[in-house]
Amino acid sequence: MKCLSSTYMIRTLAMSVATHIKCRGGTYPRSSIQRLSVPDHKISWTVEYPEYNPPYYTAASIQGQPWADLEIGDPNFKPKWNSQDGTVNRESYMGPYKVVNDVPLNPVGRTGVQGRGVLGRWGPNHAADPIVTRWKRNETGDIQYDENNKPILQFVTIKRRDTDEWALPGGMVDPGEKVAATAVREFREEATSSLTMSENEKKAWQEKFQKFFERGDEVYRGYVDDPRNTDNAWMETVAYNFHDENDSVVGTLKLHAGDDAVGVQWLDITPNLNLYASHKDIVKEVVKRKIL
Ligand code: BGC
Repeated sequence: MKCLSSTYMIRTLAMSVATHIKCRGGTYPRSSIQRLSVPDHKISWTVEYPEYNPPYYTAASIQGQPWADLEIGDPNFKPKWNSQDGTVNRESYMGPYKVVNDVPLNPVGRTGVQGRGVLGRWGPNHAADPIVTRWKRNETGDIQYDENNKPILQFVTIKRRDTDEWALPGGMVDPGEKVAATAVREFREEATSSLTMSENEKKAWQEKFQKFFERGDEVYRGYVDDPRNTDNAWMETVAYNFHDENDSVVGTLKLHAGDDAVGVQWLDITPNLNLYASHKDIVKEVVKRKIL
């Protein structure tokens, strides 16, 4: 795939980093591990908390996986923290993170669990998210407005299998892969794989698709308040908005919840949206740029 990044309009991030809400308290995902409860004022590592001794958890399912790091201390594991380490990017968008006793520290603060949990990498785990938008229209093609007379934006969302929550169709950046390419690949895999098309339709669609996804607008780059985060491993993402102003490419895709196995739909962006991790904040940023 051709390098997309040069064609991207990079905008500075105005969104503030969400503090730990989804990655604090309760049970760690896909486990019975109880996070140590960390009060708001003790999230920051700069606040002393000498008795802090959270459970250590690294899921057995990630150990030995080709996409996962080895244990710290393993003679075959020599990570280059805070740098591009071969094909693995161990740099954080949040700036240099601290490494204490060879273990990276979550740049936002304490989460109540140590280890890697279900995340493959120590330190930052990089993802990419596409926010594919269109205007909501009625049957005759007119744009729909809300009670404040603002046009209604819709975006493509998928239902995550792990938490059953609606989310952006994003995914993990493969080693060596360009982040923008990940966002496009994930959209294809998660949101369009179930569409039934003839071979000819597919060909025409591929060409239009390629063009459409060359023009993305970066709306977020940074830490994500993901329920899988730990004190030593966390999610970061870059999110790109791909907007179909006239429904000329993806806007015409007929996606309806329940149409297929993954659960994918065009969803109205409303103030009471409830989405996975920090996805609501990312979507809100798109609305701010497009409407407010
Ligand atoms: C998801 C992305 C998400 C990231 C951080 C990844 O697993 O696929 O959509 O932004 O985690 O929560």
